[in-house]
Parts: sequence; C-alpha cells; structure tokens
Amino acid sequence: MKDRASRLLERELQSFVELHPRSRELSERARFSLLGGVPMHWMLRWAGGFPVYAEKAWDARFLDVDGIEYVDLCLGDTGAMTGHSPEPVVRAVSAQLARGITLMLPSEDALWVGEELTRRFGLSRWQFALTATDANRFSIRLARLVTGRPKVLVFNWCYHGTVDETFAALDGGSVVEREGNLGPPVPLDETTRVVEWNDVEGLERELAHGDVACVLAEPALTNIGIVLPEPGYHDALRAATRDTGTLLIIDETHTLSAGPGGYTQAHGLEPDLLTIGKPLAGGVPAGAYGFSAEVAERVKREITDEVADTGGIGGTLAANVLQFAAMRATLSEVLTEQAFERMIALGERFEAGVQQTIDRHGLPWHVTRLGCRVEYLFHAERARTGAQAAAAGDEGLDRLIHLYALNRGILLTPFHNMALMSPATTEADVDRHTEVFDAAARELTA
Ligand SMILES: Cc1ncc(COP(=O)(O)O)c(C=O)c1O
Repeated sequence: MKDRASRLLERELQSFVELHPRSRELSERARFSLLGGVPMHWMLRWAGGFPVYAEKAWDARFLDVDGIEYVDLCLGDTGAMTGHSPEPVVRAVSAQLARGITLMLPSEDALWVGEELTRRFGLSRWQFALTATDANRFSIRLARLVTGRPKVLVFNWCYHGTVDETFAALDGGSVVEREGNLGPPVPLDETTRVVEWNDVEGLERELAHGDVACVLAEPALTNIGIVLPEPGYHDALRAATRDTGTLLIIDETHTLSAGPGGYTQAHGLEPDLLTIGKPLAGGVPAGAYGFSAEVAERVKREITDEVADTGGIGGTLAANVLQFAAMRATLSEVLTEQAFERMIALGERFEAGVQQTIDRHGLPWHVTRLGCRVEYLFHAERARTGAQAAAAGDEGLDRLIHLYALNRGILLTPFHNMALMSPATTEADVDRHTEVFDAAARELTA
C-alpha cells in the first residue's frame, strides 16, 4: 500500500497546486513579511505545502480565495465547534462591540456565565482567561499554591496548550522533553511526572512520591487520536489523587464534545478543578477554570487582596465584557442540549460511514468517537496508551487522506484524522466525507 500511497500523494499534490493559484500567490508574498511565510509556524505543516487562504466562513463551511467551497470538519480544531459565526453570537457580540469591549470591570453577563458553568460542570466557583492554555497554566499555579508541592503529573502524549510543564514525555521510565519543545525554561523532570494513560499502577507509584500538586488530565486523550479511558480508570484516578492529597484538574477543552457538560457531566466525574476554552465563546477568545467548593476555599485563604494583582495569573484583556457576551450567547443559544443531541447523532453517522468503508475494503484501520468528535487511525488495534497511539501513527497516509479530502472540498483537522460535528453540520456533509473516504480507500486498495 505504501507505494500506491506515495504515487497518489504526488498526484494529489499536483492537483492541489493547480486548484489553488491565488492561495499559492499569497503564500509566496507572505514570505516577505511573515516568519516562514505563515502567521503561526504550525501552518507550515498543512498537507498541501502551503495553506489554503480563507475568504469567508459560515456554518460548517468556508470559501477560499480561489472560489472553492469546503465542508469544514476541522472547525478551527474545536475553536469553531459552534459552527462559524453562529447568528446568536454575531448578534450578541455586535451589540456588545458598540457598548464597550474591555474595561477591567465586570458585566452582569459574567454572573450568568459562572452560574451556567456551575450548572453544567458542577464546579462551584469560576475564573476566566483568554485561552484554554492560560486556564491550564493558572490552574497549575493555584494547585501548587494550595498544596505547597512543586510538580505536575501529566500523561504521555497529552496536549494541554503551550504550557511549559506539560511538554514532557516518557522515555523508558524517565521523563524527557517532548520532541519539538522549543526553548524550555528548565529540564522537564524538574517540574513534571509522566505516566501512561490507563496505567493505574504507574499513576499510584508516581503519586506516592508526595510531590505532585496536581494531575492534569483530559478525560480521554484527544491529541494523539482518541484514547478512551478503560472501565474503572477514572475511579482509580480519582481515588489515587484523593489518597495522596493531589488535586485533579480535568481539561474539557476537547471533550466538551461528549455533551453540554462535557465528559465530566456525562460520566459523573468529580474534579477539583476544571479547565475549558476553544468553542466556549463561539470562536471569540475565552477560557475558564472552575474550582470545587473546597479548593475555592483553600485558594481564597491564600490569596489576600494585597497580592491579588501580582500572582502570575491574569491578563489585561482577560474577563473582558466582549467575551462574556459571546459566552452567554454560545451557552444559551448555540451549544445547547438539543444541539448536542443533533451533533452526537451526526458523529454516530460519521463513525458508521467510516466503519463501513473500513469493513468494505478489509482495511487494518479503526475509528473512535467521543460524542460529536470522531477520529480514524490507520492501525488495526485500538490504543490504550498515548505511546501505543503514537506508534500507530502513519504520517504519510495522514497527509494523503487530508489532501485527498481537501482536493474534494473537505477540510479535516490537521495532524489527525479528526472530524467534528457542529450544530450547523448536515447529514449531507457527513455523507460527502464518507463518499470521499471510500473513494480514497478504493484507490489505495485497487
Ligand atoms: C486538551 C487541550 N487543552 C488545552 C488546549 C489549549 O487550547 P488553546 O491553544 O486554545 O489555548 C488544547 C489545544 O489544542 C487542547 O487540546
């Protein structure tokens, strides 16, 4: 299959260039003002060799500068899980834009949002940031503050944003820097313990050192394929953290796909802190972090009014009134319970379409779903750890499938084969992907 895949990739690369003369022209011009010719360095890694330039986006689609319309299954890698520019968010943000953007003062919307987050996730107190990365960074700091412990425990192949402590990996039994970690401040084994996902024994062993302030965990790994927790794993994680006085931070940034209150509500998790961001404000930058009543008390005891402005937590634009208007509209009118019912049903349809293709062509691949988030991996066995999922990756096939889809009007999430269903996604969008995926599988196995 490898030879056929590289021949197909060559053909698809050529057709990508032919289809996108204007994007190519803009990419060439960008080299003179943008580092590497892109506004964010990872955009160098789009499958076609240069990024498609967007003209406009709406619902679950966008138009590029060459006049091609796409079904968007990437949705800004979850930032636009609401669909692009949902009408209620545009309405609320437009009204707020005319009434102030940022003041360093709260608006009443902040209360509504805090109350709604408590209703959905169960945490009793909330704070706000501009990104999920910041929500994670601030939560880690507060966990260190209230426990008086120095380290963080994360899972091998996790991703929680650009948080220094989390770019660690396991090499044998040692904590090392994750490949591609740029300019780390200190060696990672000074700040971080790492264990494999689903490894209860490893988790208990590392927490027994008594120096871990918090475990930072997604409820399922979502950044190295989707690696689901095994039955009983979350109970073991909660018990091990409680037994050792370690705080448990659950990062729901991606697993919000599981339902209106994320995986936490859907599966009755009881985190000490919870972080979230990306689609929370319909694409307007916003992050939030919540505390259990007990942790909120401990934090309040430590933060006196005199030091409330100096603790490495905050940001001038954080908790601005615009983001609250956007969050309120998103939570009240876009990412509603009814919307999730539809989105999850579409996820099931997508999963079934991919599975049928895999079965029809007898391919050694598999598909995994977490609510409205679906991902396929070019490997027969389902991984139970991050290391297994990483070893099962196939960059060549990833690139080919991305490009194959892109050349036929479908955008998948880069570096994964991930598709996300928004409230604006349609059954026809899902079926179009199934058709294109099936055509790729047919050509690969012909
Ligand atoms: C689980 C998880 N948490 C946090 C983040 C950070 O989000 P942001 O880059 O929007 O700060 C990401 C980004 O992909 C993520 O996957």
